Amino acid sequence: MRVFLTGGTGFVGAFLSQELILKGHDLTILTRREQPPASLQNGARFVTGDPKQEGPWMAEVPQHDWIINLAGASIFTKWTNEAKKMLHDSRILTTRNLVTALAAGDRRQLFCSTSAPGYYGPRGEEELTEASAPGQDFLARLAQEWEAEAMKAQGLGIRTVITRFGIVLGRGGGMLEQLTPLFKRFVGGPVGSGEQWLSWIHQMDLARAFLFLPEHPDLTGPVNFTSPNPVRNKDFAKALGRALARPAFLPAPAFVVRLILGELADAVLSGQKVLPQKLTTAGFEFLYPTIDQALQNLVGEN
Ligand SMILES: NC(=O)c1ccc[n+]([C@@H]2O[C@H](COP(=O)([O-])OP(=O)(O)OC[C@H]3O[C@@H](n4cnc5c(N)ncnc54)[C@H](OP(=O)(O)O)[C@@H]3O)[C@@H](O)[C@H]2O)c1
Repeated sequence: MRVFLTGGTGFVGAFLSQELILKGHDLTILTRREQPPASLQNGARFVTGDPKQEGPWMAEVPQHDWIINLAGASIFTKWTNEAKKMLHDSRILTTRNLVTALAAGDRRQLFCSTSAPGYYGPRGEEELTEASAPGQDFLARLAQEWEAEAMKAQGLGIRTVITRFGIVLGRGGGMLEQLTPLFKRFVGGPVGSGEQWLSWIHQMDLARAFLFLPEHPDLTGPVNFTSPNPVRNKDFAKALGRALARPAFLPAPAFVVRLILGELADAVLSGQKVLPQKLTTAGFEFLYPTIDQALQNLVGEN
C-alpha cells in the first residue's frame, strides 16, 4: 500500500517505518526536519512540511491508501501554558489538516490516528476496554479532543481507526531509554506507591498490530494497542531489574516526582489497567504478551 506517515521520524515512527518498508509498503514521511534520520533515508520518501500548518504537503495525502498520524510534541516536559498549547496544537491542528486533506480526495483510504491510555484518566483498579468512558484531567481532555478531530474522517465515510498506544517499549527511545541507565547504575525502582497500573506494548507488537488493520476491515474507531497483561509499576520495576540483572529497590517517592515533573507527575503516579479487547476479539496474537518476555527481548542480559 502507499502509506503516508506523520511523526515517522520519532521513536515509534522510525521503528514502524522500517517494518512497513520490510513488508513492501511504499512509504512517504512528512517531516519538519531538513535532515531526516539516516536509518530511513534508503527506504522512505520524505515530504517537508509542518503538519500543524496548512501547506502544499496536504495535496500528497489523498494520493495514498493508508494515512498514519503519529505526530505530537512529547508530553514529558514541564506543562507550562506554552507547553500545553504545543501539546494541543501539534496533535489537534495536525489531525484537522489531515482530515481536511482527506476530504478533498476520493475517501477510499484507511486513516489511523494516535491516542493513548491517558484518554481514560486515572482509574485505579478498573479494567478498561475501548468501551470505557473517558477521564477528566488534562491528558484525558487532550486525548478526547485529538480523537474527536480524527473521527471527523469517519463522518466523511473514511475508515478511521484510533490507535490508543500503551507505553511503547522498544530500543532507541521511549521510557526504556530513560530508565535503563538508572537501573544499570543501581538507582532504579518503583515510582510513588508502585501500585499504579502501567499499560504497555512491545514495539514489534505495535508494528504487527498496525499491519493487522488493513486485513481486518471490521476494526474501526478506538482500538487499544496494549499488551493483554498490564502490570503494576512496582512489578514493571522488578521485571526490568530481572532483565538487566540489577536490583530494583530504590523507590522514587511521590513528593520527589511531583517536584521534578510538576503537573505531569499525576499521570506518572496514577495509571490505567487497559485491555486490548478489540484486537484479541479480532484474533490478534501478541509475540510479547508478558512484561518479562518483552524486557528480556529488548534489554535482557541473561
Ligand atoms: N512513546 C510512547 O510510549 C507513546 C505512548 C502513547 C502514545 N504515544 C504517542 O505516539 C506518538 C509518537 O510517539 P513517539 O514516542 O514516537 O514521539 P517522538 O519520538 O517524540 O516523535 C514525535 C514525532 O512528532 C513530530 N512532532 C514533534 N513535535 C512536533 C510539533 N511541535 N509539531 C509537529 N510535529 C511534531 C516529530 O516529527 P518531525 O520532527 O519529523 O516533524 C516526531 O517525529 C506521539 O503522538 C505520542 O504522544 C507515544
